Amino acid sequence: MAAAIPVIKVAALSGSLRKASFNSGLIRSAIGLSKESVTGVQIEHVDISQLPLLNTDLIVNGTYPTVVEAFRQQILNADSVLFASPENNYSLTAPLKNAIDWASLAPNCWGDKAAAVVSAGGGFGGGRSQYHLRQIGVYLDLHFINKPEFFLNVFQPPAKFDDDGNLIDAEAKQRLKEILVALRDFTLRLQK
Ligand SMILES: Cc1cc2nc3c(=O)[nH]c(=O)nc-3n(C[C@H](O)[C@H](O)[C@H](O)COP(=O)(O)O)c2cc1C
Repeated sequence: MAAAIPVIKVAALSGSLRKASFNSGLIRSAIGLSKESVTGVQIEHVDISQLPLLNTDLIVNGTYPTVVEAFRQQILNADSVLFASPENNYSLTAPLKNAIDWASLAPNCWGDKAAAVVSAGGGFGGGRSQYHLRQIGVYLDLHFINKPEFFLNVFQPPAKFDDDGNLIDAEAKQRLKEILVALRDFTLRLQK
């Protein structure tokens, strides 16, 4: 009998709460690709919009608020993490940092997981947020794939997304697919 193909579970987080967010669009596209053409990858979009602003007073007798605990479990249950990280003022967004901080509290939910980061934004396509995120990952013990990198300049024609924030650019989709393949392969290597 042929050996079963391992399937990695990926928690995908978007740093934008906007309905027609381009970065959330990247995650939707990644989910589509994982179903159509990238084997062995199961992606869940983890909603961070309902998390309260970080305040350790909300932890009562060692118990996190229900929504925070559910979020932490989603990260813990994942084999790896896909961040779609928009750039605000040359860094990652407040909602994404808030989510990262909640799941970093002891026991750290991020530790020893593989990760990848993609972004859509201005001139550098959100690249500066990616490098700040990678720096945070050092302390969290997240292991980011180095290559390929994925930055998408959304303000340069032709349009890369439709009005609902769905990725429509074929070349970007191909590059996104390569990210998923690299994340899958690196996650499996880490688990050996
Ligand atoms: C407060 C704020 C700061 C921003 N700073 C930057 C920036 O430093 N670099 C950049 O490329 N884009 C910047 N932008 C533009 C966003 O990256 C752009 O609107 C992007 O589409 C946001 O991602 P989203 O479509 O997923 O919501 C900024 C937007 C806001 C609201």
